[in-house]
Amino acid sequence: MRKLTTFCAAVVAAGALSGALTMPTASAGDTLPTDKECSKLKSADAETKGWCTAINRRKGNCLACHIVTTKKTWPAALPPGGNVAPPLLSMQQRFPDKAKLRAQVWDATQSNPHSVMPPFGRHKMLTEGEIDAIVAWLYTI
Ligand code: HEC
Repeated sequence: MRKLTTFCAAVVAAGALSGALTMPTASAGDTLPTDKECSKLKSADAETKGWCTAINRRKGNCLACHIVTTKKTWPAALPPGGNVAPPLLSMQQRFPDKAKLRAQVWDATQSNPHSVMPPFGRHKMLTEGEIDAIVAWLYTI
């Protein structure tokens, strides 16, 4: 029970923080592409590839479960993420060991056997390269 209370407090705190961080402070050039815009990109850096793979509903579909707090501006046409899972924010601070973050995306059941998060790597839903790109992007939020 104590663990649950701590978890809930963390989620509430993260929620408050995400509200503060999503204030429209970035310039227009800092707006993230929508999934439609992603499909038209001819080339992209690892972070953008990771973002595009994460929001693609045939790929990571991370927004089905997660709200994401990014330093860049959220595209107005993209609905916010779900509340099934904790919000994704400050990943580098929270996962100083990048391998642990990658392991969470590769197979969430390694750290929580009861996780409902899909084991993207173990089930080959995403390629190793796509997972690397997602982790590169997660480290920028
Ligand atoms: C079906 C729902 C679901 C989807 C889709 C999903 N996750 Fe998760 N995720 C969870 C849940 C639930 C947790 C909470 C911890 C656990 O159960 O593993 C979690 C935890 C995490 C964590 C650890 C967060 C923390 O604060 O400790 C990361 C990072 C993460 N997910 C990234 C992703 C990424 C990236 C994607 C898309 C490629 C994704 N998740 C897709 C449900 C989901």
